[in-house]
Amino acid sequence: MAEYVTAPTRHLAAMPRGRPLEEAAAVPLAGSTALQALRDIARVRPGDRVCIHGASGGVGTFAIQIAKLLGAHVTTTSGAASRTLCLALGADEALDYAATDAFSGGRVFRVVFDVFGNLLLSRVRHALATGGVYVATVPSPRSLLLTALTLVGSPHARLVIVRPRTADLVSLARFVEDGRLHPQIDRVFPLAEAADAVRHLETWHAHGKVVVRTRAQLRGWSERRPGGAVQGLRGRGWHPGVSW
Ligand SMILES: NC(=O)c1ccc[n+]([C@@H]2O[C@H](COP(=O)([O-])OP(=O)(O)OC[C@H]3O[C@@H](n4cnc5c(N)ncnc54)[C@H](OP(=O)(O)O)[C@@H]3O)[C@@H](O)[C@H]2O)c1
Repeated sequence: MAEYVTAPTRHLAAMPRGRPLEEAAAVPLAGSTALQALRDIARVRPGDRVCIHGASGGVGTFAIQIAKLLGAHVTTTSGAASRTLCLALGADEALDYAATDAFSGGRVFRVVFDVFGNLLLSRVRHALATGGVYVATVPSPRSLLLTALTLVGSPHARLVIVRPRTADLVSLARFVEDGRLHPQIDRVFPLAEAADAVRHLETWHAHGKVVVRTRAQLRGWSERRPGGAVQGLRGRGWHPGVSW
């Protein structure tokens, strides 16, 4: 994390007009991950039944809203205290992962998006429709092997590896501008307390995004430039929940 960073222009886009910089900063990493997982990898279509596991964190709160924008019926799993948040973001059904097993009881999904990353394909396989897709977020030898082994056949296991793309950032910014996408911010930390921000993320119970505010933001940097500030993903590497 830093106040200044260079980035290729193909990784950048204008931030949503009329929105606070903290809100814009919450979008690129988590929003792009959810968009690329659901639209590009799972190819969610209207009417699809989608389960978002670990839906109340940074990626999950975008995933709920993007799945609804794509026309899906959305079931979420989260802690009991986060169910209200998931429903407020548009989930059709919000389950407490400690009380209910979303993958038993006869539910069938076209897509399971394992945002939290602790599911096994063997656990969700019988709850996936024919041709269904299980999308993981956590790269591991197992997720890579599963992707290779399920390239043909059904269900498919896939891994999302987010790519910084201007076109996706422009789409996300437009959704934020017109009120169809609401970035959820759990907490904002000053840059001097970045270590506390990471410690907070490491509790794995942030609800929405954790944002780090720089001095440039405190000076209202974005308001003084025509067209606002730019936002983007770093070209290499990512960290859970941290807004770059
Ligand atoms: N592959 C990629 O390109 C890519 C990109 C971005 C992120 N990621 C990865 O995606 C994962 C999620 O990122 P994130 O930013 O959404 O994380 P996060 O915001 O830290 O996730 C926190 C959420 O996880 C939920 N959670 C905690 N324990 C759980 C459990 N046992 N079962 C289900 N949910 C549980 C919490 O829900 P409650 O508080 O309600 O319990 C909390 O809302 C991370 O591993 C991150 O590294 C991958």
